[in-house]
Amino acid sequence: MCGIVGYIGTQQAAPLLTLGLSKLEYRGYDSAGIAVADAAGEASMRRAVGKLRNLQHSLDSAPLAGRAGIGHTRWATHGAPSEINSHPHRDATGTVFVVHNGIIENYAEIRVELEAQGVEFRSQTDTEVLPNLIKRAYDECQNLPRAIRSALQGVRGAYALAVMHSAVPDTVVAVRQTSPLVIGLGEGENFCASDALAILSETRRIIFLDNGEMAFLRAEGVEVFDLESGARRQKEVQQLDWSADSANKGDFPHFMLKEVHEQPAVMERLLHHYADEEKGCIAFPHIGLSREELRGVRRIFIQACGTSWHAGLVGKLLIERLGLISVDVDTSSEFRYRNVAPHTGGAILDSDTLVIAISQSGETADTLAGVQEAKERGLKVISVVNMPASSIVRASDGVIYTHAGPEVSVASTKAYIGQIGALYLLSLYLGEIHGLIDRARMKRRLEKFAEVPRLMREILADDSGIQRAAQRFWLAEHAFFIGRGYGQPSALEGALKLKEISYIHAEGYAAGELKHGPIALIDEKMPVVAIATQGVTYEKILSNMQEVRARGGKLIAVAGEDDEEVGKYADFVLRVPELTESFTPFVVALPMQLLAYHIAVLRDYDVDMPRNLAKSVTVE
Ligand code: G6P
Repeated sequence: MCGIVGYIGTQQAAPLLTLGLSKLEYRGYDSAGIAVADAAGEASMRRAVGKLRNLQHSLDSAPLAGRAGIGHTRWATHGAPSEINSHPHRDATGTVFVVHNGIIENYAEIRVELEAQGVEFRSQTDTEVLPNLIKRAYDECQNLPRAIRSALQGVRGAYALAVMHSAVPDTVVAVRQTSPLVIGLGEGENFCASDALAILSETRRIIFLDNGEMAFLRAEGVEVFDLESGARRQKEVQQLDWSADSANKGDFPHFMLKEVHEQPAVMERLLHHYADEEKGCIAFPHIGLSREELRGVRRIFIQACGTSWHAGLVGKLLIERLGLISVDVDTSSEFRYRNVAPHTGGAILDSDTLVIAISQSGETADTLAGVQEAKERGLKVISVVNMPASSIVRASDGVIYTHAGPEVSVASTKAYIGQIGALYLLSLYLGEIHGLIDRARMKRRLEKFAEVPRLMREILADDSGIQRAAQRFWLAEHAFFIGRGYGQPSALEGALKLKEISYIHAEGYAAGELKHGPIALIDEKMPVVAIATQGVTYEKILSNMQEVRARGGKLIAVAGEDDEEVGKYADFVLRVPELTESFTPFVVALPMQLLAYHIAVLRDYDVDMPRNLAKSVTVE
């Protein structure tokens, strides 16, 4: 939840640091602070409890001058949200300043050891040991890289740091040990941040630090070193194609609504990056497996968590239909304990089995563990990921980026569309490689894909029907979502969206399963959202709806715009364009997302930051 920003260059640091911190506000925090140093190493610090504007007011009335600095938004873990516990923290002599994300597990014993040496602590935080350790190490060796490496040797935990030392005023140091940290390259200035979003308005040339790396930022350049060996590392500079608007809500009241509206553009970007509609062909530049290798694939395991798992369930149906390869889908937390292939210590034995990992963040611990497990079992892994250069990407053999741009709202929307869009194109690609899809069929499919964004925009242009349904059901305590075929994962995802942001207990079911238990819960207080778009199981879902209706349940149907039949059974009909079945998940997602959104707004909940949830879950 905490955020880090660092700057060194020719401009005043303080305004850039507070601007960067403002882009990280969406993560939640309870205090903020910055430290700024001038060329002579004269450093000063300002911190304030509460919103960033409190810090800003204080800086407006008494500005801090200097062209290097570090800033932080803190979400209290060790010690209450107070000014004294806010970051930056400095050593007892005021020489070393540190901002820190993550946790120092053994801080208590380090603190005892430092106290025994006479160091006085001001705060209750785990962080404060760090500037003191670095100060002590620097005093011994008078060399900042060596001092930081030696100070961190005995430190356990997952963390990211930005550090300044008054004796080395031309340098800001950034350290990554599990918690994410990126470097932004400018002209005569450089940045670091816990999230590229923070610095996107200043630069899009980004270096993603790996675990166990530290970067020395100076105005004129950046050097990256291995924390353990001290060896210099060559790093790839990535040019992010994200818009600087990604970190702003624009005219929308919430990031979630903004991101829902960005979904047609995500589909267009996927086509632009991977497909040539005119020629009827698809290419994935970073897929990491040759056509020959993919031709040999007979079995696929998809593994992912949360919304990404739902995208995987859609992917299974697509790949089995268009690519004719059988697919298993697991949540990553289960997949990694399955015995899907013998352990080979990484030697490739099973070349006809492919693992696909799906993740927006590319950092989800369970999914990453699933990738590592698959590699240990000698299986090839392709990841479908949104965040460039993330841990899952690096652990996989190849990647298909979902090009959704940064997703800020915790409830995933556009990343999901990016995932199912990428999986759609992958299934066509596999179908073509396996000789099932010829040029003409490919061309037709891609042309249809290209039409979907316009149809999505039509739904988004008028959501008054969805708002009416929300007004009718916003006080419900429970809800069911049912679907068949492609409608089944869409139902699971619809239920997840509702429970995540409105805190209504919602369950998604394969509609055929309703009568095997859940139907016992149907009464007049139970709204049921039925995905009843046209397809092979359409008649069956109508029967399931009648089963609900016969027991007094209230029905909201998501149905094609030409469907007159469905209105006989449903209390509300949310219309979507009539499409070939395999395209329905794209349009069905929108009313599901918007229904959850409007209900959460009516219930006056924090849509973008629902309680107890995190955007990126890096614990197993
Ligand atoms: C968290 C998020 C979900 C997300 C899931 C998987 O639970 O709140 O929105 O679907 O993690 O995240 P990933 O980044 O791997 O897609």
